[in-house]
Amino acid sequence: MTFRKRKKQHPLPPVEETAGTFTIVDGEDYLDEIFENDMRISRSFSHFQLSEEEYKENYGRVIRELSATGEHKFFVAIDRYGRYLGHVWICLKIDTVDFVPSAYILDIETLFPRIGIGGALLNRAEEWAHEMGAKKVSLRVDLKNPARTWYAKKGYSERAVIMEKLL
Ligand SMILES: CC(C)(COP(=O)(O)OP(=O)(O)OC[C@H]1O[C@@H](n2cnc3c(N)ncnc32)[C@H](O)[C@@H]1OP(=O)(O)O)[C@@H](O)C(=O)NCCC(=O)NCCS
Repeated sequence: MTFRKRKKQHPLPPVEETAGTFTIVDGEDYLDEIFENDMRISRSFSHFQLSEEEYKENYGRVIRELSATGEHKFFVAIDRYGRYLGHVWICLKIDTVDFVPSAYILDIETLFPRIGIGGALLNRAEEWAHEMGAKKVSLRVDLKNPARTWYAKKGYSERAVIMEKLL
């Protein structure tokens, strides 16, 4: 009798062990992970106490409305097994300030900070925007977000402030 050797299935190493060796690829196949992570992270910045259900519904509506117009692009950082590590969402936007072709970063997030993923995503997004003819890239960041310092290191300067009043 002959026994066929069974190929042993090795479980994948934990993603935190593989995150250091990442690549940046087009993100359109990762939209589920992108929005799942973004919804969780964005919620931590909200000043309003919405229920889970209400937040999800509003989040979904905003994403649908945002995606409906303009040219959008996603990039993800993945490990060598193709697992999601972080993303950037950028779009071409009508610029009401300088009236030049312009790009806007809607989102940039990593599950594993300070190992270069955010920087690599930002570079790729800026490269795309440049290829698309954008003359500048802008974004909105919360005043209390430590990412402000990070953006400054990456060459971004603060130009305007968003004013808000509770109703
Ligand atoms: C902001 C964010 C994308 C940065 O990504 P990251 O992968 O941590 O950044 P990198 O590892 O590429 O950072 C590279 C450099 O920035 C520094 N850095 C990283 N986070 C920083 C921070 N919060 N403040 C200051 N410097 C920071 C690193 O020390 C490193 O510096 P060095 O090159 O001089 O050693 C990430 O922290 C994140 O996902 N934050 C939560 C989501 C968020 O707030 N996004 C911005 C919304 S507008």
